Amino acid sequence: MPIHRREFLQSAAALGAALALPAAAAPARKESRYELIPSEFKVQLDPANPQRSTVWSYNEQFPGPLLRFRRGERAHIAVQNRLAQDTTVHWHGLRVPNGMDGVPGVTQLPIASGGRFDYRFDIKDSGTFWYHPHQASFEQVPRGLYGALIVEEDKPPKVDRDEVWLLSDIRLDEQRQQVEDFGRILDLANDGRRGNQLLVNGLAAGPDRRIDVRAGERLRLRLINAASARFFRVVLEGHAASIVAWDGQGVTPHAAPTDGIVLGPGMRVDLIIDCMQRPGARFEIREAGRPKLSTMVLGVIAYSTQAPLRSAPLTTSIAVPPNALPEPDLDKASDHYIMFQGGMRGSPTIGLIDGKPSRIQDIMAKQGLAWTMNYNAQHEHALMHEPLLNLSRGEHVILHMVNETDFVHPMHLHGHFFRVLAVNGAANALREWRDTVIMAPRSSLDVAFVAENPGEWMYHCHILDHAAGGMMGTIVVE
Ligand code: C2O
Ligand code: CU
Repeated sequence: MPIHRREFLQSAAALGAALALPAAAAPARKESRYELIPSEFKVQLDPANPQRSTVWSYNEQFPGPLLRFRRGERAHIAVQNRLAQDTTVHWHGLRVPNGMDGVPGVTQLPIASGGRFDYRFDIKDSGTFWYHPHQASFEQVPRGLYGALIVEEDKPPKVDRDEVWLLSDIRLDEQRQQVEDFGRILDLANDGRRGNQLLVNGLAAGPDRRIDVRAGERLRLRLINAASARFFRVVLEGHAASIVAWDGQGVTPHAAPTDGIVLGPGMRVDLIIDCMQRPGARFEIREAGRPKLSTMVLGVIAYSTQAPLRSAPLTTSIAVPPNALPEPDLDKASDHYIMFQGGMRGSPTIGLIDGKPSRIQDIMAKQGLAWTMNYNAQHEHALMHEPLLNLSRGEHVILHMVNETDFVHPMHLHGHFFRVLAVNGAANALREWRDTVIMAPRSSLDVAFVAENPGEWMYHCHILDHAAGGMMGTIVVE
């Protein structure tokens, strides 16, 4: 009776939210309202090339509009579906009530073509987030359905400029049209479907994607990886960047690695950069993910010829103030394990498909499944399956992820942030909060969190082809 269980969870979640509000003292929240209209339209991806490409995106803008909020506000986002197929919107990284999480078949019914859904939730955390469909994500996201969502801090670090770069890619043919080869088993079971054109804010990457600065300025650069399968390794020429937030949550500021900042699909990083080079100079921002091949230019930091704004960098703090996330107590935490197997390379995998042990590599092509989590293989719409974990509300949890595959996986949990404790058993000194974390091939990863948010939450690989091929399950908090 999984459907009944879900209905119960949702009404329980709604009740819990109502009870949590102190009846008389609830402050009137300011509401920010947006409308998102997903549809198909044509866009010129390269200002230097007049050919237009068909994409799907929101409000006939590509990428979708940047949604801005302040912490503590109430969001109301009305979605009107003008696509020919069902959709939903998921608010990646936001701790929303389960019923607003945008997962079809789990937290809501899909929004049918021509239909509408109103998302309403309180904005709990400041930071850099994004939004995208959770319906057929392996197709809808690479077709162009994604946008940035920024929640301003109450006291942000002082900067002169705040830029958002939404990184992605698209697979184009010679006519610069989308190659419609979504969901191929070859992509599902390997590294996922990558594009052949890198995009920065929906435009072809290259030296024309400029961040215009004046010498002496302090720049905050927010990078979001919205690609469905591509990792970005971002190298900044001529500038020392400090990492001040991962996935929107402030961290102890530290120098970005000079060999590049690695962002898996779904991940975000906030950088602070003091632009202390000469007026008129230009420096490349490169993607160096494939060091043996030539690196690709994403864009440039372009200095105006104006005299420097200041001669020494600002001395004010660059730290991003923390959000109020519940701190896991490791002494009383319970241990849970999730093991991953499968993929086209590596050891053969036996997994349960509809309760029956099957050799995954044998049924791959027929079933469209390539991965197992704790020996289970399930399709993207996990409605008929049991959750991977059942946690009690308020439980302190250490989640041990064991990757037995030969593939890298950016693992994402909905509704919660977790602290990254250890990689392959070695303590991670930074202990940053994340909602998406890179799990290297044949490695283990330990994370900790408090299961505070009631409901049924997706836990999946953010290589969207992997999620479609079985790396998608749920964790129930009740
Ligand atoms: Cu960004 Cu389950 O997704
Ligand atoms: Cu994966």
